[in-house]
Amino acid sequence: MRFDIITIFPEFFRGVFDFGIVRRARAGGLVEVAAHDLRGWTHDRHKVVDDRPFGGGDGMVLKPEPIFEAVESLTGLAGGDAERFREAGRRVVLLSPQGRSLTQALAGELSKAEQVVVICGRYEGVDERVAEALATDEVSIGDYVLSGGEPAAVVLVDAVTRLVPGALGSETSAVNESFSEGILDFPNYTRPVEFRGRRVPEVLLGGHHAEVARWRRRAALGKTRRNRPDLFERAELSDAERERAGGGDD
Ligand code: ADE
Repeated sequence: MRFDIITIFPEFFRGVFDFGIVRRARAGGLVEVAAHDLRGWTHDRHKVVDDRPFGGGDGMVLKPEPIFEAVESLTGLAGGDAERFREAGRRVVLLSPQGRSLTQALAGELSKAEQVVVICGRYEGVDERVAEALATDEVSIGDYVLSGGEPAAVVLVDAVTRLVPGALGSETSAVNESFSEGILDFPNYTRPVEFRGRRVPEVLLGGHHAEVARWRRRAALGKTRRNRPDLFERAELSDAERERAGGGDD
């Protein structure tokens, strides 16, 4: 799988993909990541990529022409019908606070693509024709405004890469983690057994696998209820589980 990031700050990405799982996936040839300067697809002396918004208002908007040209040259496909990219196993992601949320499910979908082109928005926005007719997906990484899509691109590449088969040490290790079931991960402890007066829960020290599993499930549900009531509401739980997690603060 190949990531092609389109940005006005290609230097931003220097070094960020040289760590941990992403570095290993790149070294092993599972993923390639390249950052491209949007200005390379301009044709004027000053390499202008933005312009004033029609209708007035503050700030500048990224022009459509260089972005369309960039995506067309990086995919070898004509823009104008995003469905064609999907059919060819490509995704074109426009990062913006107006997008749909990046979830584990969407990351999983993107991990199956042959190529993911990532467009980093900037300034006050991007000409809407990019969202209308070029991008297969308009994606936000959360309900806050970044000054540009670049940090979001790093998040997306990381979340997607670790789901590419073979990227994690064991093929199954992405199955048991937070969000894979719509709830948060269970809490973990390591040595020492007692640290500054706080002990590791006794059940984890006993080696009784079924009891440990029960405790982890309960603790995960309790944590989900406290920290992410939205997920807890939507999770598919038995009445008994919902009841048990609904009580005290464990
Ligand atoms: N660009 C600015 N804010 C963003 C966000 N929350 N997600 C993705 N891209 C963005």
